[in-house]
Amino acid sequence: MTREEKVKFNKLVAKNVANILAARKITQRELAEMVGKREAEVSRWLTGRNGFSTEAIRRLSDVLGVDVTAPMSAEGLRHVALITGVTGQDGSYLSELLLEKGYEVHGIIRRSSVDFRERIAHLEGTPNFHLHYADMGDSMSIVKVIAKVKPTEIYNLAAQSHVQVSFDAPEFTADVDAVGVLRILEAVRACHLEDTCRIYQASTSELYGKVEQVPQNENTPFHPYSPYAIAKLYGFWIIKEYREAYNMFCCSGILFNHESERRGETFVTRKITLAAARIAQGHQDCLYLGNLSSLRDWGYAKDYVECMWMMLQQEKPDDFVIATGVQHSVREFCYEAFKCAGITLDFRGQGLDEVGVCIDGPAKLVGKTLVRVSDDFYRPTDVVNLWGDPTKAKAKLKWNPSKTSFHELVALMVKHDMGKVAGEGAAAKVRTNLAEYLEKGIVR
Ligand code: NAP
Ligand code: GDD
Repeated sequence: MTREEKVKFNKLVAKNVANILAARKITQRELAEMVGKREAEVSRWLTGRNGFSTEAIRRLSDVLGVDVTAPMSAEGLRHVALITGVTGQDGSYLSELLLEKGYEVHGIIRRSSVDFRERIAHLEGTPNFHLHYADMGDSMSIVKVIAKVKPTEIYNLAAQSHVQVSFDAPEFTADVDAVGVLRILEAVRACHLEDTCRIYQASTSELYGKVEQVPQNENTPFHPYSPYAIAKLYGFWIIKEYREAYNMFCCSGILFNHESERRGETFVTRKITLAAARIAQGHQDCLYLGNLSSLRDWGYAKDYVECMWMMLQQEKPDDFVIATGVQHSVREFCYEAFKCAGITLDFRGQGLDEVGVCIDGPAKLVGKTLVRVSDDFYRPTDVVNLWGDPTKAKAKLKWNPSKTSFHELVALMVKHDMGKVAGEGAAAKVRTNLAEYLEKGIVR
């Protein structure tokens, strides 16, 4: 530890001990008796100036029954979060948020042949950030992590989250996205943490599916329309069931699409922003998409993870729709993204024959068809009209759905991808990556 780190550490321990004493109404004299020291010495500890010996920390942790070096709330309670899906878009932003709030953050990772966790690479090695191997399909691994970490909050974000892929791997999707939620709930009960651990479940606007009303709020009927959505519907109901049957603090966030510069490259927004950047820089000729008329309520992922935390700080567990309340088509996203990359598109034709032609921009692109429609990217059943009503989240959570506008979201994603593509430089021309496969229609 550097001198500065030591000072910070001593202050944290002193603050924790003072908070615990206040919360439990223990006087300094009583604490001195408990640890077998003179009151004056204990009093000096609590200034945080003299520092704590290893022995003092061990004694204090023993007598108070809690690790006094761990992050805690002002009430002397531990703040320990377990995030499943920590390597994903939302998991990475949520980790950053909780670390900033002083949480001890634990994440579940699964073994992969490529040991590079791009979205959380910058957090590895951070004090209070810990990773554990487990898999949503393996109950024992989940029980073991929960028993070890004893989280006070669990954010269940792990999922096979791609709707199209759920048609290709429906059984795996059901196992992870449906039964996986049950595994978390049962693990919490098996570890006797049901009274102290709050659970956030990553539910989704896909539950509305073949929509029966617009915009959609917490009372809109569900009509799931893909194996993914049907698995998530089980997750939603099992959370509600355990809340009522066992009085557990479980919440579902019904989140509408949220995107970012960390979004997976096979979701439509990121596929578009990467393609716009590649086309603008001469690394790609044309972008192939599916249903351009599909409507979504797109928000910024960084704003949405804040809501997950807010839901778990409520007095009572409840479910919330999280959305911007503004709707756009895939075609509009595409137009806006290319515009941010310096290319103006004009969409002509209909259905599979619709094309996006460059009418303004770099001279070598003007007049060229840069966007085409391919039926490779159509789904067996597609959800085409998602539009959320965040009134309840605004009123109860005091959450601001307009923090990042549609235009700002597209602009920040394109800016990021322009930089990424420029950084990849000539290598991008020869590299065969997933996005290029996608463009050729080999993988949907
Ligand atoms: P994402 O980027 O696809 O991340 C999914 C995470 O789940 C990854 O960390 C992945 O690990 C992990 N995972 C998948 N299968 C697993 C398994 N068997 N065991 C352990 N971990 C597993 O998804 P996201 O966009 O961050 O979304 C987070 C959650 O919110 C998901 O549940 C998603 O369904 C839900 N959701 C997302 C949106 C949205 O618009 N983003 C909207 C509503 C709901 P690997 O890195 O190892 O693959
Ligand atoms: N992926 C993709 N690729 N989608 C395309 C394409 C394409 O080339 N062309 C058109 N689309 C349409 C899809 O048919 C869909 O209607 C819409 O664009 C959005 O598709 P995705 O970006 O793949 O997201 P999603 O809405 O299916 O699912 C995402 O949002 C859900 C919340 O509503 C995922 O993040 C889910 O995990 C999440 O639950």
